[in-house]
Amino acid sequence: MFRTDLFKGKRFLVTGGGTGLGRIMMEKFVELGADCVICGRRGGVLEETAKAVMARHPDRRVETHTVDIRVATAVEEMVDRIWATGPLDGLVNNAAGNFISQTKDLSPRAFDAIANIVLHGTFYTTNACGKRWIAEKRKASVLSILTTWVWTGSPFVVPSAMSKAGVAVMTQSLAVEWGRHGIRLNAIAPGPFPTEGAWARLNPMKEGDDDRYKARNPLGRVGRPSELANMAAFLMSDEVEYINGEVIAIDGAMGIMGNGTFSSMMAYSDDDWRRIREQIQSTNAT
Ligand code: HXC
Repeated sequence: MFRTDLFKGKRFLVTGGGTGLGRIMMEKFVELGADCVICGRRGGVLEETAKAVMARHPDRRVETHTVDIRVATAVEEMVDRIWATGPLDGLVNNAAGNFISQTKDLSPRAFDAIANIVLHGTFYTTNACGKRWIAEKRKASVLSILTTWVWTGSPFVVPSAMSKAGVAVMTQSLAVEWGRHGIRLNAIAPGPFPTEGAWARLNPMKEGDDDRYKARNPLGRVGRPSELANMAAFLMSDEVEYINGEVIAIDGAMGIMGNGTFSSMMAYSDDDWRRIREQIQSTNAT
């Protein structure tokens, strides 16, 4: 789908890139010629991932930094250390935190646990990179991983929905503010992509797992991680530089399915539709 040297000479930071979707996106960038930096809270996990990816791509470099992005000074130090070995050309804000809970049961600390990662941490990382790019007059691309709840909200994940909506607005605001510096910001709003971490926190009752999404998704399935990785590579590429300030859903149209007045009719059979047509046409004749 892509030129294998698409990202030759590029260096991207992927937050939370040691596991899950962050790892999958990072591996795609490396496969297309990029060097990557991954950061997260668990050094061992990052190291293991970096080793495995470099073993498959011995000519590429995957660097690791142990950091908690909720701590602004730690983010600043990490970005300093990254820049000491060379500048970045892009950032993927993938690190997140989430769990389902009734909102009335959330303590202020529970709200902060999510908001500090998603809203604050994403801002700290984006601004730490952005100010260096601006000072160096370096073109760059920022991609944030959101969810379709940024448009609709969602019950039981209110801190995440609020925080990710904030990152969507950051994407639009900075796309305008930083566009003149050659820095563009976009975001992807994925629907359900099963990863170990997300599923453990968001589907604890294991309700039919993937089957649960068959009836609720126009494509009748959950997302394939490779589809997200392809979208991320597309948006990070210089070939689509004119895309700036966009939040693009990748969910099989699940997010807009409930909005159509007639969406519930998806379950009707051809026979149902034949009867409906006859009934409507007989009404027309009278
Ligand atoms: C209610 C909870 C809770 C739960 C924690 N808390 N879990 N409250 N229900 N299930 C409360 C605690 O009681 C405490 O408040 C406060 O939150 C902080 O808890 P800690 O355990 O001290 O927090 P911490 O160790 O910082 O852990 C952060 C975390 C954790 C977010 C809670 O889950 C984490 O580190 N997650 C990172 C990875 C992750 O979540 N990945 C999934 C992302 S998926 P009190 O008041 O009691 O002290 C995603 C999008 C998916 O984002 C989209 C799918 C469509």
